[in-house]
Amino acid sequence: PSKITKIACIGAGYVGGPTMAVIAQQCPHIQVTVVDINEKRIADWNADDLSQLPVYEPGLPEVVAAARGRNLFFSTDVEGAIRDAQMIFMAVNTPTKTFGVGKGMAADLKFVELCARQIAKVATEDKIVVEKSTLPVRTAESIKTILESEGNGLTFRVLSNPEFLAEGTAIEDLYKSDRVLIGGDEDADGQTAIQALVDVYANWIPREKIITTRLWSSELSKLTANAFLAQRISSINAISALCEQTGADVDEVARAIGMDSRIGAKFLKSSVGFGGSCFQKDILNLVYLCHHFNLPQVADYWEQVVMLNDYQKHRFAKRIIDSLFNTVSGKKIAFLGWAFKKDTNDTRESAAIYVADELLHDRAEIHVYDPQVKAEQIYADLEYLQKHRRTNSHSCSEQEPITVDEIRSLVHVHNDAYTAMDNAHAIALLTEWDEFKHYDWAAVYQAMKKPAFVFDGRNILDRKQLTELGFNLHSIGKG
Ligand code: NAI
Repeated sequence: PSKITKIACIGAGYVGGPTMAVIAQQCPHIQVTVVDINEKRIADWNADDLSQLPVYEPGLPEVVAAARGRNLFFSTDVEGAIRDAQMIFMAVNTPTKTFGVGKGMAADLKFVELCARQIAKVATEDKIVVEKSTLPVRTAESIKTILESEGNGLTFRVLSNPEFLAEGTAIEDLYKSDRVLIGGDEDADGQTAIQALVDVYANWIPREKIITTRLWSSELSKLTANAFLAQRISSINAISALCEQTGADVDEVARAIGMDSRIGAKFLKSSVGFGGSCFQKDILNLVYLCHHFNLPQVADYWEQVVMLNDYQKHRFAKRIIDSLFNTVSGKKIAFLGWAFKKDTNDTRESAAIYVADELLHDRAEIHVYDPQVKAEQIYADLEYLQKHRRTNSHSCSEQEPITVDEIRSLVHVHNDAYTAMDNAHAIALLTEWDEFKHYDWAAVYQAMKKPAFVFDGRNILDRKQLTELGFNLHSIGKG
């Protein structure tokens, strides 16, 4: 079918939810059903109170309000949605494997494979299957094999349509994508399938921004884009370490080099280290692929981006401990921010988790405030790390894991930033939420233990103001 009227999306997470909401809003003639096996998530997507949506993204509640119940539906009926749709997106999670072959490196494709099997099982007519999840190169081949072996003689066309949105600006990114990438087979049927998906996006994306390629190029472009983006962060963070030793200022260096149009000014902000569910996972996946294809030099080159990032998080934690006279045991450390970046409630791979972990190994008392992250998520993140620590990371891999009881007794979560900072020995700023810039820092200073340390892991605080107030302020990459 070239004119699509019914779309299903498997996976109602950070990608499936926002992308499908925007497709539905922009294409009133297409019925979009987003399904998930997680009943709580679907219930939250259907909540009357739009502030309870499972994904926090600026602008998302308005988009959902416009389309939900009209041509946008959230459901747990996976099979029904598959059966009805002409085009099925797979937006399920593809985490790093935590066991077996490729442990700690390769993408775990079990959710993708399950989706393919389920599509093959329930389909009663030909379907276009769209990979929206980020996948290793040549996954489309495996998906096609599964669909064709299980699919009762039906024809399945597999497209790769990786998602380039960034959390925190997802809606804006989806409205005005720099580009939409669609990969497909080069034969006539493949081209027809590509055209069907082009026609969906052409409802709001200018045609010249929709790029079509071969399948393998499309799959590899997503991994490459994330590797390049993460590489910029690790490159500037590497320079930040040198700045701290030499008295140079990393923000000044970034500004100076960023004005070179070949380098560009964006994505050059030094920080405590990148987080998020994608950068590390996708680079490790790329590294794994390079080893698989016997390219160890290429693998090592990209792996270094992740190792530098581990080093940056470790350096930040170590600087806190060193500055606080070589121990944080029993000291109150306030954490401003837990999400991996501002304007999202997503905490996956957040630098805050790793910094907290190192301080907890030194028995610090951590008091967290984040405007969007719930207490249970914070405890779950720390507990998860104890079980699934990457062995080659810089942090406390040699040390004993911290027990659940210790985490519960040492970590306190606050609904108010000022109570989190009251009487603290130090403040560690981990997420660049705008509100942190506008606090009453004079009052914070009065309420803290002296010397009052602030470790600004995002370089967003006013250095002059805080220093004049009497804070002992440590920023990233400022000697
Ligand atoms: P997520 O974990 O937020 O959402 C995935 C959802 O899929 C979960 O709700 C899960 O319950 C559901 N699911 C898993 N197996 C299922 C099945 N068999 N049937 C029905 N539902 C199932 O993950 P997220 O962040 O949305 O990522 C999805 C994919 O998109 C990943 O491959 C990721 O690499 C990629 N991606 C993520 C971006 C991001 O910013 N989060 C950006 C670009 C790509």
